Amino acid sequence: MTPPPPQLSASILNADFARLGDEVRRADAGGVDSIHLDVMDGHFVDNLTMGPVVTGAVRGHSSLPFHAHLMIDRPLAYVDRFAEAGSDLIVFHVEAADEPGAVLDAIEASGRRPGIALNPETGADAVLPWLDRVDLVLVMTVHPGWGGQAFMTEVLPKLAAVRAAVDRTGRRIEVGVDGGVNASTIATAHAAGGSVLVVGSALYSTDGDLAPTVAALRAAAAVPAQTHDERT
Ligand code: DX5
Ligand code: ZN
Repeated sequence: MTPPPPQLSASILNADFARLGDEVRRADAGGVDSIHLDVMDGHFVDNLTMGPVVTGAVRGHSSLPFHAHLMIDRPLAYVDRFAEAGSDLIVFHVEAADEPGAVLDAIEASGRRPGIALNPETGADAVLPWLDRVDLVLVMTVHPGWGGQAFMTEVLPKLAAVRAAVDRTGRRIEVGVDGGVNASTIATAHAAGGSVLVVGSALYSTDGDLAPTVAALRAAAAVPAQTHDERT
């Protein structure tokens, strides 16, 4: 069965931070489906990016769903602040210090939608116990911390395993793919089961109107990809 067309989510990490509101509007006008905010604390990953203040500052520039991708050690302490700042979906890492069940309780209590992410080296088994409580599983296809890295094809079998596990639940759970998604890798990520595809440098490396870039990425995603076995 051909999977439905994927959603495109704009990662603003590679946008021009000197005019972040404009950059959010540019992605919105370009036709993406959501805005992806990469939150880094300098501990969980070796980079410091944005927090609830920046999230709130750009919230008024688009009515698209905001996906807060929390690459932080202590998500529990920040769930309410990202909810109040206008995040619609709050995604935390299963490798974070806080117990996932407690973080999910807090996200549910905040009235926002929960998501769980896993790093490339983390097995799919780590998120399976939480599938009945999340709206999205975010599969990292780069080691988190920076935009512009190469897509890790070795993660594809795990992505397919996460997709299969999600389908077995019968629930509507999105499978996100984050890192190195571009016109060359998007079809493979989609064919392996990705339904929400995060694009950063592949989008913001374009000046001006982003609509042609978004259309090109959507077209590339629709191309039947060689399966993993055909490539190897
Ligand atoms: C990396 C972030 C990604 C990244 C995506 O840690 O989670 O969202 O910004 O950027 P590209 O698409 O350039 O890999
Ligand atoms: Zn991200």
